[in-house]
Amino acid sequence: MRLATPSGFATEVFLLEAPDKGLLPDGHWTLVGDMRLREAWTGAGMPEPGDALWVTVPEEEKKLRTVIPWLEHWARVPLHRDATVVALGGGVVSDLVGLGAALYLRGVAWQVWPTTLLAMADASLGGKTGADLAAGKNLVGAFHPPKRLVACTGFLKDLPARHLENGRWELIKTALILGEMAWAMEMLQDGPVRFAWVERALAYKAGVVHRDPREAGERRLLNLGHTLGHALEAASGYRLLHGEAVGLGLLGACLLAEEQGLKSFPPDLLDLLVRRLTPLAPLIAPWPACLPLLHRDKKAKRASGHTEEAPATEIHCILPRPGESAIQRALAPRVWEVPHARLIDLLDREAHRA
Ligand SMILES: NC(=O)c1ccc[n+]([C@@H]2O[C@H](COP(=O)([O-])OP(=O)(O)OC[C@H]3O[C@@H](n4cnc5c(N)ncnc54)[C@H](O)[C@@H]3O)[C@@H](O)[C@H]2O)c1
Repeated sequence: MRLATPSGFATEVFLLEAPDKGLLPDGHWTLVGDMRLREAWTGAGMPEPGDALWVTVPEEEKKLRTVIPWLEHWARVPLHRDATVVALGGGVVSDLVGLGAALYLRGVAWQVWPTTLLAMADASLGGKTGADLAAGKNLVGAFHPPKRLVACTGFLKDLPARHLENGRWELIKTALILGEMAWAMEMLQDGPVRFAWVERALAYKAGVVHRDPREAGERRLLNLGHTLGHALEAASGYRLLHGEAVGLGLLGACLLAEEQGLKSFPPDLLDLLVRRLTPLAPLIAPWPACLPLLHRDKKAKRASGHTEEAPATEIHCILPRPGESAIQRALAPRVWEVPHARLIDLLDREAHRA
């Protein structure tokens, strides 16, 4: 099924159960695929070009050094400017292949075939490609939208449960941005992920990204849960997966919104969030480990005259509201101290109650 996207949107979006070779590029194309998917791909009758690269890239190798041999390989093939690169894998593979496609010959076309729920629901749409530097995640990258996104939900059948849960948090994020409490609560219940949720999340993100491709305004709403989430992810030494950290950040953002005097959340919603997040409690770093990371937030504002190392005076925070769309506020990093403490307390109580 082809999803409706805004007219002129850079990426055609397809959501299918099984892969369809009719959606592969016309003309010369090559593939960079996650080795874990090779059997599922060829087993589904999908072609494997002779110059395909099957790779295994752990999160800690989402680095420029991983992409360079791919670029050298494409130059040896050789891949010309009119060729298309197909990325098959989770967010790590798609971020790196997209970056490679942006760099090679100053930009060749690419398609993304996401294979994790996180990549289907979020990472593969929006044109952000990137790699990590020693100083932090995604600090180098390019906006280079794929021509086509083909999400085949059949690939999810072998995805480990932890990674399914990881992607589910990005879906729950969408409901909270929109203020749709009933949808958020439906997704927070136990039970399988529904394709309709992925479809809605993709359609919403496509609209936002189309209106604000460079994240100058509305697109920042997609960072709901990411301010505290990124700090918790880094402070855990990346033992928390990205989506898990976002899940914790979502509860933190609900608590911060209440602290800021916005409308209270239905207790049932907070209970469901707490119950789902409790297994992550041992990975939550103490506040002193989080504060310096919040100060380093990419969109931090600093007092004039201070250097980059100076503590941030304000960071960009997204506050969810029940029944209404989330809002943006610039706040001092320390405002997160109370929500962080409440988060730990709520998960602690639930762990002792269960
Ligand atoms: N570009 C963006 O807008 C954006 C947005 C969100 C996240 N990201 C990035 O996405 C990355 C995380 O992506 P991810 O969560 O997909 O992790 P991932 O790509 O590391 O995949 C998770 C694991 O699942 C395996 N895997 C992939 N598909 C599988 C399948 N169908 N069956 C079995 N195993 C499978 C992978 O080999 C890997 O071990 C992070 O680097 C993050 O920065 C990017």
